[in-house]
This record gives sequence, structure tokens and C-alpha cells, in this order.
Amino acid sequence: MNVQKEKPIFKMVGVTKEYNDGGSFQALKNVNLEIREGEFVSIIGPSGSGKSTFLHLLGCLDKPTGGEIYVDGIKTSSLSDNELSIIRRDKIGFIFQAFNLASTLDAFHNIELPLLISEVDSEERKQRVESLLKHVNLDKSTHFPSQLSGGEKQRVAIARALANNPPILLADEPTGNLDSKNSKDIMDLIRNLWVNRGITVVLITHEPQVAAYGTRMIHLRDGKVEKDVKNKPQVADGHKIKEKR
Ligand SMILES: Nc1ncnc2c1ncn2[C@@H]1O[C@H](COP(=O)(O)OP(=O)(O)O)[C@@H](O)[C@H]1O
Ligand SMILES: [Mg+2]
Repeated sequence: MNVQKEKPIFKMVGVTKEYNDGGSFQALKNVNLEIREGEFVSIIGPSGSGKSTFLHLLGCLDKPTGGEIYVDGIKTSSLSDNELSIIRRDKIGFIFQAFNLASTLDAFHNIELPLLISEVDSEERKQRVESLLKHVNLDKSTHFPSQLSGGEKQRVAIARALANNPPILLADEPTGNLDSKNSKDIMDLIRNLWVNRGITVVLITHEPQVAAYGTRMIHLRDGKVEKDVKNKPQVADGHKIKEKR
């Protein structure tokens, strides 16, 4: 059962992101918000509104040019690149529209990669990859990405994102390359992981039926939070999320 706790897992205070290649451009402008543990946040907004920038900053893949970001209470501005990579490794799983799998590795070895980086020993790696394959309902462990469908590739990517058991899943248009059936299957999988593992999910989408899985919707426009509203997740097949305690 997913329990919403009180602690903010993310906090942005006056966050600004300016890009400076050939002129300066503010992709995020003075963003202030908190995301609490166990929330399922959908980020929506037009193309170019700053959604990916926002997610990259939350995920410590990039640094703000102004303001402060706290991840699980940790002030990130004073951390070194190495310390930020440790936060990413231990706390955050990422998935992307283009799956970003290693093409020369089969499904098993793609999922194993973060466990190698974390120096998990080989017997435990094997057990964990097999358990993750079951969690994402994939039996094609020896297939390479080129031999997998889009939906299957995203299952591998989700398993890889969750390999180190992070408390946070960040997703940038994870269903953007999928047809509607696969899109629904992947969203149902993410919802089940959210319910059963109690992870915090922050997910970018421009599809209303995908955004509807969230407990909260943050609308971005021109680098600002235009609207930030609670949502009662309800999905098409009649399943209803159990009321939060
Ligand atoms: N590395 C970059 N250098 C310069 N401008 C960028 C860079 N990344 C994004 N931008 C610009 O910042 C704005 C927001 O981009 P992004 O966060 O990718 O938006 P979204 O994901 O909502 O489409 C866009 O106008 C984009 O062109
Ligand atoms: Mg984007």
C-alpha cells in the first residue's frame, strides 16, 4: 500500500535555469514547489515549456543557474559532481521516451548494468535481475534491444531504472513512442510499482489519459508553473486507486 508521507522528497526554491548557447534563454523562471514522498506527479505543458529541463534538474542530471534544489532533504548546490552521481545512483531511477538502452547488451545485461556500477556481487545481481524481469513481466532476457518491441524495451528500461531499488522514478514522456495498447500497459505497470513499492513518481506527458494516472498535475508554461492541482487518479478499465491513508 502506497502511503503518502509528510517529508518533501523534492523541494525547489526560486529555481531558474538559463541556457547560454548563442544568447541566453530562461527555460525555468523562479520555480517554487515541493513534492512529497509517495506522490505521483504528472508534468504537462506545451513543447518547449521547460518540462525536460525541470525533470533533469530534479534528477541532478543538470544544475540550476539560480535557486536551490533539495533532494530528500539534501541541499544539492554544494555537492560535487561525484556526490550528485551518488544521489542519482541511490535515489533516482530514470526512464525516457527513446528508452536509452545499450544496444550491444541483451535485456538481462541492460538491467544488470546499474548493479555492476553499485558493485553488487554476481550471485545477487543474477537474483535481482531475474526478480526485476518478473516484476516488469518480461521473459525475453536474452533478446537485444533491436529484437524487442517498444513496449518490451520500455519494460527493460523500467527494470533497469529500479535495479538499485530507488525511492524515486522520473519519467520523460515514457509512452511517447508507444501505441495506445502498449502505452496503457506501461502506465499500468508504473502505477503498480507506485502502489506496491511506495515510490515517488514524477512523469512528463502530453497525453491526458497518461497524465490522469497522477495524484497531482503540474502545468508548465514558458518556464513557470501555470497550474498545480490535485487529481483523483482513475483509469479507463475501471480500476480505481485505493484511497490514500
Ligand atoms: N541545452 C540547451 N541549450 C539551449 N537551450 C535549451 C537547451 N535545452 C533546452 N533548451 C530550451 O529550453 C526550452 C525548454 O526546453 P525543454 O525543457 O526541453 O522543454 P520541453 O521538455 O517542455 O519541451 C526550449 O525552448 C529549449 O529549446
Ligand atoms: Mg521534453
